[in-house]
Formats: sequence, structure tokens, C-alpha cells
Amino acid sequence: MLTTVNITNEIHYIGVNDRETYLFENLWPLDHGVSYNSYLIDEEKTAVFDTVKNTKMSVFIEKINGILKNRPLDYLVINHMEPDHSGAISALQDQYPDLTLVGNAKTFEILENFYGPLKNYHVIKDGDTLSLGKHILNFYLTPMVHWPETMMTYESTTGTLFSMDAFGGFGTLDGGIFDDEVNLEFYMDEIRRYFSNIVGKYGAMVQKALKKLKDAEITINIVAPTHGPVWRSAPNCIIDYYDRWSRAETEEGVVIVYGSMYGNTQKMADVIARKLSEKGIKNIRIYDASKTHLSYLVSDIWRFKGVILGSCAYNTGLFPTMETLVNKLENSQLKSRFLGIFGTASWSGGGVSNLNKFAEKIKWQQVGESVEAISSPKDEDFKKCIEMADEMADLLIKERKPGTDAFCSFIY
Ligand code: FEO
Repeated sequence: MLTTVNITNEIHYIGVNDRETYLFENLWPLDHGVSYNSYLIDEEKTAVFDTVKNTKMSVFIEKINGILKNRPLDYLVINHMEPDHSGAISALQDQYPDLTLVGNAKTFEILENFYGPLKNYHVIKDGDTLSLGKHILNFYLTPMVHWPETMMTYESTTGTLFSMDAFGGFGTLDGGIFDDEVNLEFYMDEIRRYFSNIVGKYGAMVQKALKKLKDAEITINIVAPTHGPVWRSAPNCIIDYYDRWSRAETEEGVVIVYGSMYGNTQKMADVIARKLSEKGIKNIRIYDASKTHLSYLVSDIWRFKGVILGSCAYNTGLFPTMETLVNKLENSQLKSRFLGIFGTASWSGGGVSNLNKFAEKIKWQQVGESVEAISSPKDEDFKKCIEMADEMADLLIKERKPGTDAFCSFIY
């Protein structure tokens, strides 16, 4: 018997795990896999909320059949059209020919662009409702979180928010489905990696969506996203994290990322980190951009206020992995960080000078002067690195709030 889990007596978790795919969107490493979550309400009328990637369609349909037996499936609510959730739509319509697809006008426009004409559309508008019998579905259009058609469906008798990608993250659900069944520290890292790399650019639209939910004055008891854990014990916790991240709110700490061919730029990173530590900064992360995937760097930069970037010169420009990082940061439109810059030149410059250009474009607050050593750092270069770290630590400490941040402190 396949695993399905009751969220309530009539709402079932019917998601699947993907441990085979290496890269999500053929881009983001799935070191711990990913779940494609789907849900089924089984009462007078039956409804499924989002499907799964096409590689998982057979096990998914088997789960639905296992619950419905020979009963019909009436509705498929398409909260998000991206193929990791729409891959089983036509297969589901083949299995249930009378199935009605529920989405907004943009959903069906994109759906047809991907899959050609399908049938039985029920087009909803913002604020519309649909009754399944006892359960009432309320539709909230939340465009550009992170595609144009994205929407959320709130089931008002149980307070369940089917939130599509919002509040979701990487990582398979290995037995535990609910927030109170899993190690949240692991999942929060993977949820932030998902948010910062995929949704974060649309922070303003996330804020609009959160405001819409707030203004609707609904009580959210369960957050049911399309990836990652289902939040039934602390739904407000994940909602508040999303609020913080989409406002670019940070924690105290410094992320140092460097590109170094022969270890000279790396030496400067270690000296900077030591000074930060001596000043009392505890969250310090040093990454070699050639070794750690961009998605993890962006995730930590989203988390912490201090960012210190280092690059050697490479063919008169930035070291390639650092170039990829700064391009991603520019594209993400992340705001309000303290920025330090260091690096090395050799037979040409190009590392530090291009980081300086990045600083002008991103408009973060630059800390100290950029430090550029020639080929290998000398005492005077290390001294400048220490001065920059000293200033960075002072700025962070000045922002330190008295007392502890009790918010969702059980997670971190
Ligand atoms: Fe999980 Fe935007 O797809």
C-alpha cells in the first residue's frame, strides 16, 4: 500500500519524493532530493491540489486511485503551472475524463502554451469560492510568487492554505510529513535556499500576497505547500519567516565568499574571519566559490547582514565563479547589506575593480576600503583586511538588539 497521510479525516497528503533528479529546474542541486506535494479532499465532491513532475505521475495516480477507489475525481485545482506540478495533468484527465481543471485565466494561457488545448476549464477570479460540500475553497490570486499565474487556495472549514511553492523548500519528506515530525533546522535551511534562489527576486510580490492573506482576515491552521513539510503546529512561524525574508530582514553574521586560484586570496579571507571572531561575531561562514554551489552562497547571503567578497584577477576580470555569484546577486535585487571587498591582482587587475563596480550597482553599504594585494598579501594588506573586519563587526554590533530573538527560536 502506498503512503498517503491524513491531514484531517478528509484531506489527504498524496505527494511523492524525488531522489533521482540532480538539479531542480536543471540548475539547483538537489543534494537532499525534493518532494512534490499534492493533496486530495475526499468528500461529496473530490478535489486534488496541484499534481507532480511527469516522472512521478504513475505513483501519484496510483495514490489517488487508492483513496478514491472507483469514485470520480471532480476537480484539479492548479495553484501553480510550473511543470514540476503540472506534469501529471493530462495523465490525470486521461484517467478521469470528467475532471474539471480549476485555475485563473493566466493558468490556462500558460497551460495551453505548454501542453496544447486540454478540456473542462473552470476559470476563477480573485476572491471566488467553490463548494465541495462541507469544504469551501476560496481562491486568492498571488501573481509573480514566482510565476504570473500563481495563486493560493484556502479551505475555510479547516483553515488549510494550499500555498503552492510559497513556504516550501528542497529536501524529500523521509517519513515525517508535518513540521512537528521533522528536524526543522534542516528543512529551514532548504526552505531558505529555495526561497532565496527561486522566489526571493519577487520579494515585493510575496509581500503583496502576505498582505492579501492578512487583509482577508482568515485563520490559517495548516500551511500545505507544494514542496517540503506541511505546517500544522507552527503555521505562523513559516509565514513570518517568509515575511522577514521577503523584506530582506537579516540575522547578525558575515558570509565571506572568495575565488582564489592559488590560495592567496583565501589567506585574506581567513585573516578577516579571525578578526570578526575576536570582535564577538559568531555567525561567520567562509566559502570557496569554486567548491560550494552558488545556491548555498545566495541562501546564506540572504540570511546574514554582512557580506565580504574576495576575488583574484582572472584573465583581466573577476574569477569566473565570483562573476557568477555577483551576477546572481544583482539579478536577485537583494537589498540592504554591509559589503566588504578584497582580493588580489597579478599581471593584471580585474578582480577587485569588478567587485567595486558591483558595489556601485548593488548599492549596499560598503565597509572600509577595498583591499587589493599584488599576487600575494603582505603585512600591509593583512592590516587593511583587519581594519575592514573591525569596521564590519562594529556596524553589526551597533545593530544588535538587546535580548534574544525569541521568534521561532525552537528552529535555530
Ligand atoms: Fe515548484 Fe515553481 O515550481
